[in-house]
Amino acid sequence: MALQKTVYMGPYIHCKNLNNLDICPNDTHIHASQYPNAGVFGKSTLLDWLNTYTFPLESSFKDLERAARIYNRVVARTLSHGTTTAAYYATVHVPATNLLADICKSRGQRAFVGRVCMDRLSPDYYQDESTESAVRDTQACIDHIKRIDSDFALISPIITPRFAPSCTDETLAALGKLHHDTNIPCQTHISENRKEIDLVKSLFPASDSYAQVYDTAGLLTPKTILAHAVHLTPAERHLIKTRDAKISHCPASNTAITSGRAKVRTMLDEGLTVGLGTDVSGGYTSSMLTETREAIFVSRHVAMDEGDEAKLSVEEALYLATRGGAKVVGLEERIGGFEVGMDWDAQMVRLGAVGGAEEGLDERAGLVEVFGEETWEEKVAKWVYTGDDRNTIAVWVKGRLVHSREGFEG
Ligand code: GUN
Ligand code: FE
Repeated sequence: MALQKTVYMGPYIHCKNLNNLDICPNDTHIHASQYPNAGVFGKSTLLDWLNTYTFPLESSFKDLERAARIYNRVVARTLSHGTTTAAYYATVHVPATNLLADICKSRGQRAFVGRVCMDRLSPDYYQDESTESAVRDTQACIDHIKRIDSDFALISPIITPRFAPSCTDETLAALGKLHHDTNIPCQTHISENRKEIDLVKSLFPASDSYAQVYDTAGLLTPKTILAHAVHLTPAERHLIKTRDAKISHCPASNTAITSGRAKVRTMLDEGLTVGLGTDVSGGYTSSMLTETREAIFVSRHVAMDEGDEAKLSVEEALYLATRGGAKVVGLEERIGGFEVGMDWDAQMVRLGAVGGAEEGLDERAGLVEVFGEETWEEKVAKWVYTGDDRNTIAVWVKGRLVHSREGFEG
C-alpha cells in the first residue's frame, strides 16, 4: 500500500518564524511497572528476561508507596518526552493499578491503564489465583476508572491478558467475554520470540497459530492492541487484518532482547494498522522520539535482507508514532493530528535559535545543530536523529499544559 506523502506529513505543524514544530506522539505499548528496569536486561531473551528481571520487579508493586514513587516518575518522564497518550500495563495488583490511573489523571496524561492478568506459568509469588479472581480484579480496576473518569474521556481501562502462555484457556475466554460485553479495549503480546511461539504451540495444540488462540478466545477485534508481531505468518497477518486488530511495533525492545525484526513495510502494504510502542523495559527507552529512530534503523536492517523498499522514511516513522498510534488506540478522530475539531494534544519542539550557527552553539537545542540553511524536512530529520527531551519545551493534553521547560513562554 502506498501511503501518500501528504498523509505522512500531517501530524506535525511548522511554526516558521519560531523554528518550532508541534507533534503528538502516542506510546501504544509500555509497562509502567517495569520503568525501574529500563536499560537493565543483560543478554537475556524474552522467557528468561521475564523470570530474571520482570516478575520479581512487578511483584514489588504490592507495596503501594513504592508503586506511587515509580508511577509518578514514569508518568512525569514520559510527559517530558512528549508522550501525550500511553497504553500502560500495570501489574496484577488492584490498588497499585488504580493508583496509576489516579496519577495519569492528576498529571493530565491521556492513558489506557491495564491490570495484568496471568494465571499460569508464572511464579507462585506473582500470579492470579483463578479465572474468577482475574476477572473480578480486572472489573475492580474498570469500576475505579469509571469513578474517576466516568466517560473515559482521559483515562480508559484496558483488558490485559499478559500473553497466551501466562493465561489458561478459561481465563482467555473469560476476558474475551468481558471484552465483548463491555466494549472496553484489550491489549496483549503476540509472536515476539521464537521460543515463546513454540511454547504457545505446545500449550494450545488445537489452535492453528498464535493469532488463532486469541481469535478463539474472542480477543482478536478492532479494539485489540497486539504488541510485537515480529514473527507473524502470512495467514496470521491475514486473520489480524480480517479482524481489524491493531499492531504495536516495538523496535527498541525487539533489538534489546533479541526477539527479531518485525516486517513493518509488509504489514503496512497488507493494510494492517501499525503504531509504535516503547515496551519499557524490554525496550530501554521511554522516549517515543528514540523509538521513532529505532523504527527507522530496524527497517534498514530489514532492508539489508529484503531490499530498499523496506526502509521507513523519517516522515513514515513519525506517522507511525503519531497518527498510526492514534488509530491503534482507536482515537484517530480526536488525537494524532491537528485537524480542526480534534483535541489539543501536542508537544512543542524547539530546534534552536533562528539563525543557528551564526550565533554559535545554542545550548537550549541539545544536540540538534541548526545552521539556518536546512530545509524544513532536513530540520525535522535532524530532530529525529539527534534530538532528545531538551527539545521538548511544552506538552499539552486536551488543551491542558502538562509539562514545560525553561524558555517556554506560555
Ligand atoms: N510477553 C509477556 N510479558 C511481557 C512483557 O512484560 N514484556 C514483553 N516485551 N513481552 C512480554
Ligand atoms: Fe511488552
